[in-house]
Amino acid sequence: MPPPNTADPGRIIAHRGASRTAPENTLAAFREAARQGVRWIEFDVSLLGDRQPVVHHDATIDRCSTSQGSLTHLRAADLAGIDMGSRHSAIYAGEPLPSLDQALDLIDRLEIFANLEIKPHDDPAEDLAEIVARALAERDWALDRVLVSSFSEPVLAAFRQRAPGQPIALLQSSPSPDWVARAKALSAAALHLDYRHLSETVLREARLAGLDLRVYTINNPDVVAPFREIGLTGVITDHPPLFLDAPGWAEWAGLDARA
Ligand code: G3P
Ligand code: MG
Repeated sequence: MPPPNTADPGRIIAHRGASRTAPENTLAAFREAARQGVRWIEFDVSLLGDRQPVVHHDATIDRCSTSQGSLTHLRAADLAGIDMGSRHSAIYAGEPLPSLDQALDLIDRLEIFANLEIKPHDDPAEDLAEIVARALAERDWALDRVLVSSFSEPVLAAFRQRAPGQPIALLQSSPSPDWVARAKALSAAALHLDYRHLSETVLREARLAGLDLRVYTINNPDVVAPFREIGLTGVITDHPPLFLDAPGWAEWAGLDARA
């Protein structure tokens, strides 16, 4: 694996890690993404009741673990008892729910890049922004090693105040009419959009504004292939091999095609 290249555009991004073949938002899914050959992962960050940041999508652990309960009722000390792997498959039994620090440590070791999506649930924007900004500031990393995104503009605005140089992406499911102005107000570098709302119009707006445009969560390369050469900058997928094995995508992403 070559050392991190800060010019790497992150064109094929593993959604919640390689979340088809491994349990989503786990260290196993991050390792699997790197093994599959991509250099970027997307993952979600939520807060526990004791304000510890963890890698998790939902407000509860019901869907992905063998336990139940709200994150607000969990503390860091409870993480050891949570099995995030068994619901995916027996080989991942006992896979833990990672802390943000554990995730960043692994990203460091794997020499990969990350799109860190902040999930506010009901947490105050300032708390989340402060906690994530502090965790990133503790790392001696190039700023563009981590692209921070959120559907919450208050969270992004609070984060931007605390991390002026960190790349940010605004998340919207469909583009608001004023999305460029909203992105610029946050000094965002990109819009991340639901692929079902990708159009030539929004790509043209992105190009004119000098903003990157990536889509989630796309698991069919054919659907977005028409946009590949007209400004699409990235795809966020549950299963990177779908793209790596399809004609032209690995080259587009600057990655090695798989044998
Ligand atoms: O960051 C892209 C995508 O992950 C946003 O939606 O719900 O999968 O976090 P979600
Ligand atoms: Mg996400």
